[in-house]
Amino acid sequence: MLSGQYWFAGRDIKEVNGPIVEHIPVLAETLAEQITLPPDGVMVDATTGQGGHSYLFGKTLGPEGVLIGLDVDKEAIQRAQFILKDLACRIILLHCNFSQISEQISKQGIEKVNFILADLGVSSTQLANADMGLSFLEDMPLDMRIDKRLKTTAADIVKSADEETLADLIYKFGEDRRSRRIARFIVRQRENEQINTTRELAAVVCRALGRPERKRWSRIHPATRTFQALRIAVNNELENLEKLLVSAARLLKKKGHIAIISFHSLEDRLVKNNFKQNENEGIYRVITKKPIVPAQEEIARNRRARSAKLRIAQKR
Ligand SMILES: C[S@@+](CC[C@H](N)C(=O)[O-])C[C@H]1O[C@@H](n2cnc3c(N)ncnc32)[C@H](O)[C@@H]1O
Repeated sequence: MLSGQYWFAGRDIKEVNGPIVEHIPVLAETLAEQITLPPDGVMVDATTGQGGHSYLFGKTLGPEGVLIGLDVDKEAIQRAQFILKDLACRIILLHCNFSQISEQISKQGIEKVNFILADLGVSSTQLANADMGLSFLEDMPLDMRIDKRLKTTAADIVKSADEETLADLIYKFGEDRRSRRIARFIVRQRENEQINTTRELAAVVCRALGRPERKRWSRIHPATRTFQALRIAVNNELENLEKLLVSAARLLKKKGHIAIISFHSLEDRLVKNNFKQNENEGIYRVITKKPIVPAQEEIARNRRARSAKLRIAQKR
């Protein structure tokens, strides 16, 4: 059985840049069952993160094979460098956004690839990292930029967006039906005091929804959708995913695979529609008519897997 620690085995984790939180790669066994790479294959892990999926597939490649890992988080790339260094295949790690996958791959002199994987969202290390400002479980500066080259933080949006824009954003990217009320409370709060941290924002959302702040949440925390909305906006997540999906259809070799793991319905819808459209145009064969979701056993081992949906398509 695969465990999140299998790639740490025998390694001094302190050597990896910064504190590292165990990140168990989601649906790893399912992916390994579905996708087999030729030893001289080329794989692009568009979200290499802590290298879990990269390692899983990289170790099936021989010296002629190429593993290309992309990530917008420079520290993730540095950690992946360490984690993947003993693989036999050629490894190319690029600090870039997957929306630029075509340009980046062609710069490496590679035209077509056998497999493109994206495991969307953020890693456990990023969630725990105060510099990222992604979590309301700890009090952190309200940042949310995964790529520190971006200019606008979540705090900037919360500070300066007008009430209607905030409400639309929370509705569109957070799918929260009470977005207008949340926006009104944010605007009212910032007239008195700035909202600078994740806990401060979570507290305003709890007040807007009339939910207590300190309860242990059995299902989802009331601020989850607002945080999702801001993270999507700060990082242009949906636009980037659309660009990746468009480029992937061109980059894949005949019989090559694309696999996307998404964590909320907005992403999953984009993937589903893209795969269907490519199938209608005779470009893809959709392998997963319904998305694959983790078994209860995996969710028990890895809570992050609970909302994961995996879709796979094959180029014709
Ligand atoms: C869920 S983690 C991936 C974990 C990885 N599969 C593993 O097993 O360790 C998602 C990663 O994607 C990166 N990421 C998110 N959006 C990105 C984008 N548009 N381009 C490149 N990387 C991105 C994040 O920085 C994060 O490291």
